[in-house]
Amino acid sequence: MPPAFTLPPETSRKLDALVDQIEAKPGEFFDPADLPERQSEFDVKSLVGSLPPGLGEDDLVGILKLAFLTECATESYARAIGSRAEAADATWLSRFNAHVWTPDELTHHTPYKYILMSLGFAEAELDREVRETREKDYEHSGGETPVHITTFGMVQEYLTDRWHGLIAQLLRPASPAAYQAITLIKRRETLHTIWYRDMAALQVEGNPRFVDYVSEELMRFRMPGSSVVPELQARTQAWLEPLGTNFEHMIKDILRLVYETLGNTRLAGQMVLGFAAAKGYAIGPFTVRQLNAAIARLGGPGYGLLGEAMLEKAGLSYIFETERSGVATNPGTAVYLRLRGALRSWIGDQLALRTELG
Ligand SMILES: [Fe+2]
Ligand SMILES: [Fe+2]
Repeated sequence: MPPAFTLPPETSRKLDALVDQIEAKPGEFFDPADLPERQSEFDVKSLVGSLPPGLGEDDLVGILKLAFLTECATESYARAIGSRAEAADATWLSRFNAHVWTPDELTHHTPYKYILMSLGFAEAELDREVRETREKDYEHSGGETPVHITTFGMVQEYLTDRWHGLIAQLLRPASPAAYQAITLIKRRETLHTIWYRDMAALQVEGNPRFVDYVSEELMRFRMPGSSVVPELQARTQAWLEPLGTNFEHMIKDILRLVYETLGNTRLAGQMVLGFAAAKGYAIGPFTVRQLNAAIARLGGPGYGLLGEAMLEKAGLSYIFETERSGVATNPGTAVYLRLRGALRSWIGDQLALRTELG
């Protein structure tokens, strides 16, 4: 049986209104029309020999192909999203998927083709790889409901945004045109991240129990590449550091996105605890059971403490400092400090986003 999914009518209206707005102003899609005649501008051959330490030509090709082939399978992802939206009767998500997201994504692989051709790949060979990738059965790793889909979308788009960003910087010295094209695509992913976040947040606002779906989706998250090009996706671990990935920054961004989806520290705390329980983690000196008991004694604000610790770890404590003005917590107690301290280090150790990227 699919997980329960019902939204208050007011929330459905808000989601419809949000998608109306997005459809009315989707921004400018990436236009590949002049790429064939500008092909020579996308020559990155000069980069070979001056790659950052730890990356060889084969890595450069792999990095570019991962972006090229995962982006080319848009229609496979669109089917996965569309069928789930339809099953849940979420017309707002169907509309977003069909009218904005899919046509936007369809062009994202195009500059990569010309960049790869500059490295010696024949057009026919790349076209064949595209066909083969599109024909693969895409196995969507996420859950069924629109909450799962939009949470997945938020994280996936954020990570794709960063991936294009790293590539754009890498190619910049060799080809300003490649830098520019990929940066334009990166900006589309930024918009997608924000749109998915807003859709997820409205659903959680309408039904706070959906925090469990958000947390489920974060736990099982896998990039689409792990289904369509698993051999390339598996190599990202080795590429991220030489590409200059700022892991701290990414963790902070993701925590902020999750917090914005949940809307308050109480739900953020509930999610952290759900995470720990599902993974069987202890939080500092506490087992999840002990922590649950402690939180039951503290009442509602107990979850808030956990949420605050999550934000504090991310360097986002200003968020709860403003939020707290209206909440009856007693931050001076030893229990509070002990819980918060334990949780901060636990989050640092266990969040393990490095492995989730691969
Ligand atoms: Fe894309
Ligand atoms: Fe996207």
